[in-house]
Amino acid sequence: MLLAMGSRLPVNFRCTAIAGRHRLPMVKLFLVIVFLSGIPLGSLSAGDNTNSPAVAAKPAETGKSAAVDPEHGPRFARGLKTFKEHVRAVLTQECLMCHGGDTVESGFNLSTREAMLKGGVNGPAIKPGAGSESLLIKLVTHSAEPAMPLDASKLAPEVVTHLKQWIDDGAPYDRPLIDEASTDRTPWTEREIVDDAKTYWAFQPLQVIPPPIAAEDHWSRSGVDRFVWAKLKEQGLTPNGDADRQRLVRRLYFNLLGLPPTPAEVTAFLADDSPDAVEKLVDQLLD
Ligand code: HEC
Repeated sequence: MLLAMGSRLPVNFRCTAIAGRHRLPMVKLFLVIVFLSGIPLGSLSAGDNTNSPAVAAKPAETGKSAAVDPEHGPRFARGLKTFKEHVRAVLTQECLMCHGGDTVESGFNLSTREAMLKGGVNGPAIKPGAGSESLLIKLVTHSAEPAMPLDASKLAPEVVTHLKQWIDDGAPYDRPLIDEASTDRTPWTEREIVDDAKTYWAFQPLQVIPPPIAAEDHWSRSGVDRFVWAKLKEQGLTPNGDADRQRLVRRLYFNLLGLPPTPAEVTAFLADDSPDAVEKLVDQLLD
């Protein structure tokens, strides 16, 4: 604007402006330009738009200098509060079953903010910052068809006020209305178990499995040993021999107490040659 005006100004004005030697002619030049161009002085106070709502509210029209609404933060916080205290419950109880819960009528899913902003087959149903212009508000106030919630009584006026206020404040969500990970709403007693999961050992019915019998097994002393022997054979291994009594007493102490026996305890065990010496020691250590 200044350049455009300048090119049409008399030569002496431009010279003064460019040379800039004298302050007074510059100020005069400025005032003349303002006068000629009809720019109101108030709008030249650059950078201060706090008391200029027209500039703040319509950043798109001011072009480049994206003026952020200074109320943005507080509004969002207020909207979030309205959502948590009122809106979440209304949307969940009155709308969700048809719009994102059990079904998604008319392509309109309000379970997440993203989906809500996208809208249904008729386009966005809310216009953040403009509650009254939003299709959603028109439908719940019955000023447009089809009236929502469908086939249910009209929402109470204060509920509509909350919805409108929430949209005016930017329609924030703190989190989706339904946990996206658990959209399967079938009761767990009715859910189908996939075939793979059915082979899991804990789901198998109890059954008696007799210990394997191997003809050449001279080692096993119990049913458990027979399972171990069968596995060893399968892997081509032979079992170790029996531990001597000195090793045995140490192993029993380490296994059952976590500590080695004292020399006196070892001596006592070695001196006991009764057939149930091991059994007695185990009982004693477990007590
Ligand atoms: C019982 C099911 C049901 C309930 C509950 C319900 N709706 Fe709907 N809604 C529908 C159906 C069906 C349509 C499509 C109707 C048509 O196009 O004639 C629809 C359409 C809409 C649309 C238009 C979407 C589009 O782009 O076409 C909006 C917005 C909407 N509902 C909002 C709501 C809100 C907000 C609530 C809760 C206050 C609600 N609905 C509750 C069934 C329901």
